[in-house]
Amino acid sequence: MSDFRLVELDSDNLLGAIAIPPPVGEKAYVAPVVFSIAEAYVTPTAWPRVVLDGDEVVGFVMANWDPDNEIEEFRGGIWRLNVVEAAKGRGVGRFAVEQVREEARRRGYEKITVLWDPAEDGPERFYLRVGFEKTGELFGETVGTLKV
Ligand SMILES: CC(C)(COP(=O)(O)OP(=O)(O)OC[C@H]1O[C@@H](n2cnc3c(N)ncnc32)[C@H](O)[C@@H]1OP(=O)(O)O)[C@@H](O)C(=O)NCCC(=O)NCCS
Repeated sequence: MSDFRLVELDSDNLLGAIAIPPPVGEKAYVAPVVFSIAEAYVTPTAWPRVVLDGDEVVGFVMANWDPDNEIEEFRGGIWRLNVVEAAKGRGVGRFAVEQVREEARRRGYEKITVLWDPAEDGPERFYLRVGFEKTGELFGETVGTLKV
């Protein structure tokens, strides 16, 4: 049985979060978590969170809440999402998306966005499966939008 919870980063879960693939230097469709945490440190609108299953780190998600951003696609949504290899396919990604959606609702957003690499083995099918619709392209990536 899964018991997913979304929590803030802290000294107990930091190393578990950084250990989620991809490692630094590996080519992947998402940045290493350590990069995301560094970006969050210098980006006041970033919203990094850890997904726990019981006490075990199973995922990392970072949203961005920046309603005045001049680029509409960057005003609110998912910036990064990484799931632990052994926990993939168990609903961690879907849970993280739903948590970001709930936070968006609390903040008064009507939709959230995400950008993904359109490659065949990228995360497109996941995002479509959890409800995002393709709404455009930006910087060579596909833009997905989900009503909240
Ligand atoms: C993409 C990713 C976040 C999905 O996380 P996950 O926890 O394995 O996904 P879930 O178990 O919540 O899956 C939700 C649904 O999407 C489907 N799905 C997930 N990955 C899929 C894939 N690669 N192809 C097709 N369907 C997929 C699942 O089957 C599930 O469908 P269901 O609800 O009908 O059973 C995870 O594989 C990952 O971390 N990938 C590497 C990093 C990445 O690409 N991040 C996103 C970049 S922004």
